[in-house]
Amino acid sequence: MCTAELTSWLHEPNPRRFPYEAVVRAYHSVGKHFVPADVLELLGQARAVLPGLHGPWPRLRTLAAFLDTALDKPDNRYDYPTYLALLLLELPTANDWLEQASFARSRCDRLTVQLVADVLAFELAALDGQTTLLPTMRPAPGLVTKRVRHGLRAIRPALARMALDGGLTAVEHADQARQACAVVYADMSFAERRTLQLSILPVHTVHDEYLFLRVLQAFETTFALLATHLRGAVASLTAGEVDRAVYFVTSSGEALREAAPLFSMLGTMQIESFRTFRQFTEGASAIQSHNYKIVESLCRRPDAERVDSPAYHSVPEVRSRVLVGQHHTLDDAYAQACHSGDIAEADQVRLAAAMADFSATLVRWRKAHYRLAVRMLGDATGTGYTEGAPYLAAVRDIPVFDTIDAMDRIDSDDTTAV
Ligand code: HEM
Repeated sequence: MCTAELTSWLHEPNPRRFPYEAVVRAYHSVGKHFVPADVLELLGQARAVLPGLHGPWPRLRTLAAFLDTALDKPDNRYDYPTYLALLLLELPTANDWLEQASFARSRCDRLTVQLVADVLAFELAALDGQTTLLPTMRPAPGLVTKRVRHGLRAIRPALARMALDGGLTAVEHADQARQACAVVYADMSFAERRTLQLSILPVHTVHDEYLFLRVLQAFETTFALLATHLRGAVASLTAGEVDRAVYFVTSSGEALREAAPLFSMLGTMQIESFRTFRQFTEGASAIQSHNYKIVESLCRRPDAERVDSPAYHSVPEVRSRVLVGQHHTLDDAYAQACHSGDIAEADQVRLAAAMADFSATLVRWRKAHYRLAVRMLGDATGTGYTEGAPYLAAVRDIPVFDTIDAMDRIDSDDTTAV
């Protein structure tokens, strides 16, 4: 374990020289749920000396974020954001949409590509017998091939936008994935590599938990983009900038559609593996995703019943904002723009089409999520303390907007994902 390295660091603490490699190795060797008490004690001491340390600030911030995710279980504050190490990912936030909107897309492209390439690299290394990381319940080669194919599909559009797809010439998916991993890795900065290294602390040693974590992180990245862009859409429409509003709504629908292959990728997770590691993820559920609920409540004001359900009680900050009516919604902005006569009829039609498309894509996302959850979970309850699949069945048809009805755009037996 890493006690010698930590003890030595504590004698002369310096954020530049924290023994990340040794600590991450120790966590990976047993799983976050099983890290021995002496390691946790030393990490607690490391956290206690942080306020007295001097810069550089980005290094300090990284160390604080790493300790936040590493110590969540002993602190009894383990939840979805700490499980996913969201502090380390530094996703764009809807609050700063004005600064963030212009580069949120490229930031999210980079991160998504890196997260997915990282899991592809892990899968291929395990396939080639070149890693001992998370050795429990390795998937069969055929399953890995499927996984790799869906993963490549998920990042291809972003790779093209980043002009990194030119070298993907191999015929076999596995070889193409190797090419993608090499090109993405070569393109990464030191800080980005460090983020990837520190943001994966599975609770157990089951191989498939790596996939689970990276897919959740990639979806969170998409939700962060959606939250930023939908906030931008509301503000643009309120200011009468219809083209900009249409752009933001359209790009939100595209981003969510592009992420759909991630569900197919996660669909290759072995059910027994999932059931093994989820014994130790109790308390961490995506029902605690802030950005998902921000997206929902930016589209329209959620019904009182939903605001008073686990859906919003699991995200208290978002709930408070909804209760005080802080979010101006896209529904409101659209209704106002139409009634005021400020925007031309053709623009109303364009906007309505973009909103209907987004709405249909989000409902499709919910349906794919429901199918995956049923398959993986069966009758078990959720880690977010709902009854599980029945909760998801009840929420999947909630209208996205009041002003736009997109339900008729969705095929009833839609099979585009999973
Ligand atoms: C094995 C795969 C998955 C299973 C079994 C599963 C299961 C569940 C369950 C049972 C809930 C209800 C809350 C609870 O009690 O936990 C839930 C909620 C949720 N899940 Fe998943 N999930 C899976 C994958 C994902 C993925 C990959 C995402 C993407 C981020 C995701 C996002 C969400 C969101 C946003 C909610 C809240 C929905 C709402 O409150 O309306 N889930 N999930």
